[in-house]
Amino acid sequence: MVEFDADGKLVSSVYGDVYHSPSGAMGQAEHVFLRGNGLPERWRGRASFTVCETGFGLGLNFLALWKAWRDDPQRPAALHVVAMERHPFSRNDVGALLARHAPEPLSGLAPALAAQWPALLPGLHRLEFENGAVTLTLGFGDAQVLAPRLGARVDAFFLDGFAPERNPQMWAPPLLRALAGLAAPGATVATWACTGELRRNLDDAGFEVRRAPGYGGKWHMTVGQVREAGRAAAPAAVSSERHAVIVGAGLAGAGIAQALAGRGWRVTVIDAGRMLGAPAHAGHVAAALTPVLARDDNARARLSRAGSERAWARWQGLPAGAAPRVCGTVQVERDAGRSAALAGTLAALAFPEDWVRQVSREEASALAGLPVARGGVFFSQGMLVQPGLLIEALLAASGAAVLPGRAERVSPAGQGWRVQDASGAELARADTVILANAAGARDVLAASGLLDPLARVAQMHALAGEVTLVPASALDGGPRCIVGGEGYLLPDVGAGCVVGSTYVHGAAEAKVGAEGQRVTLDKAAGLLGGHFPAYDALVAGSLPGWAGWRAVLPGRLPAVGELPHAPGLWLATGYASRGLSWSALMGDLIAARLMGEPLPLETDLAQLVSPR
Ligand SMILES: Cc1cc2nc3c(=O)[nH]c(=O)nc-3n(C[C@H](O)[C@H](O)[C@H](O)COP(=O)(O)OP(=O)(O)OC[C@H]3O[C@@H](n4cnc5c(N)ncnc54)[C@H](O)[C@@H]3O)c2cc1C
Ligand SMILES: C[S@@+](CC[C@H](N)C(=O)[O-])C[C@H]1O[C@@H](n2cnc3c(N)ncnc32)[C@H](O)[C@@H]1O
Repeated sequence: MVEFDADGKLVSSVYGDVYHSPSGAMGQAEHVFLRGNGLPERWRGRASFTVCETGFGLGLNFLALWKAWRDDPQRPAALHVVAMERHPFSRNDVGALLARHAPEPLSGLAPALAAQWPALLPGLHRLEFENGAVTLTLGFGDAQVLAPRLGARVDAFFLDGFAPERNPQMWAPPLLRALAGLAAPGATVATWACTGELRRNLDDAGFEVRRAPGYGGKWHMTVGQVREAGRAAAPAAVSSERHAVIVGAGLAGAGIAQALAGRGWRVTVIDAGRMLGAPAHAGHVAAALTPVLARDDNARARLSRAGSERAWARWQGLPAGAAPRVCGTVQVERDAGRSAALAGTLAALAFPEDWVRQVSREEASALAGLPVARGGVFFSQGMLVQPGLLIEALLAASGAAVLPGRAERVSPAGQGWRVQDASGAELARADTVILANAAGARDVLAASGLLDPLARVAQMHALAGEVTLVPASALDGGPRCIVGGEGYLLPDVGAGCVVGSTYVHGAAEAKVGAEGQRVTLDKAAGLLGGHFPAYDALVAGSLPGWAGWRAVLPGRLPAVGELPHAPGLWLATGYASRGLSWSALMGDLIAARLMGEPLPLETDLAQLVSPR
């Protein structure tokens, strides 16, 4: 909630304190946080520099830091900021407040921050500016919960909660210890706050601190330096080569190619499908990207939110057709009579209504433009994606060299790995090799003698399935939004409406056929509550469609990361039924680790998807 005091200063009635020094936010940012941390001098001559801020508020410190970076000809190539905020303003409020309160030197940058301001959902959000040279990893939630889950190697800390006596949890010893755990060697800390207790707590946490002249009528502030680097500080997976070989040109491989190329890497992709003239997802004309909702906001739900957000951020600028279309998703309840439970879930989660809300059958039907069977929830950000076009656009934009070929095994070569085919011929080599070839990754690891330590990956199975393309005219033009539930029905992409999908355990091949088409048409009829007038006229087996495989791991979460027993060899597999949710996010997770950037995911989530 936005409130002002009698002098027109932004205040919090919860904490009874002002957001910024009455003497000026810009002066405070420069004196306390920048100069208190030895900036800009300390970042000079470095490739990247990472700052962590405890109370992001309106982002004025962030904007001042970004401006200082911009104005410094000796700036590092990359500036990363990780920040936490428990009571985030809405995007509208941020825009209006920055327009009114941002000091003049920051007014040019403020609209860019407001424009990318995320939905008010718990967890980490990644914002990027200056073509990715400046990143902001913004966690919505309590700093005490978030800080121990950050994956970052921090060079400077900005401690900016409300006053310690009014907002003690922002200065509590466990939080300060969690921050010290993220400290890179020589990391510094600065804050306007200056109590003896704070200095003692910082000292106990591992910072050597002292008083320094304060700003704006305050005699003192606190500055300091970490005694030794933190154990939690995430190191980069070092390779100066900046070349990666990716095995597999599907949704996983294309997502990684984009993420690495965007950070200046050269990328080589080896793909078996292309050797056979069958690129992954050729003919898969439409698919859905809808987040998961769970009453306990479990890991899968948190990951899926992060994945949707990352996909939109990464793909919205792609050419038409390849870029997702935000059309929304009506997720129909599995059976009638669950609306009270659903209401309870939504109330417990308290997510913004403009992100997800409960809808009656009538409302769901109005959103879809077709009668649907039951009410459910509406995700306004549900996305319709054309996977074949997306993959081609991502590979083209990454400038990757795409080589047709089937990887049989990998073996150590110099600092890195060589990828060989069945004849033993070398297909490619690099310090960094990433197996992103779905269920084929298990076979490559087994053939290379590397599978045994990977119990979860060893249990991977391939699950076939198909989707069917129905003429839009058979569906009164098709739905206006994605209709999901037991199966899914997608808006017309020009070629028709995709209905899906089947799950065939133990299939020998993935194929389109009469049996599968009967299943997909029945699922569509179920979603429409039987209101599918052309159903009888459609002959199962005569319609176009697409069939493929899902690589499924126990727990249906992907396995992504460097193999501990094979440094330089990475895995990105097990995307199961949610390849669109994981593609961009897992690409960025791998790239962030390779570059030593803050992770775009909380470490508990990154740990859950780790290969072991
Ligand atoms: C019927 C169906 C419908 C689906 N609908 C959706 C949906 O609506 N939304 C969604 O998010 N997901 C959907 N999925 C899931 C999605 O397709 C997968 O999650 C996604 O394709 C996984 O990406 P991937 O890159 O791991 O695998 P793929 O996209 O299958 O790509 C793997 C690539 O690796 C190559 N390869 C394999 N072995 C080797 C090797 N040894 N050497 C070199 N290359 C190799 C293959 O040729 C292929 O090109 C659907 C899946 C199916 C089957
Ligand atoms: C002094 S203001 C920060 C101003 C901000 N740095 C800026 O540049 O605009 C303190 C911020 O800490 C936030 N805060 C308070 N308690 C918190 C907590 N436990 N976890 C995270 N943020 C918290 C407040 O909501 C507020 O935005």
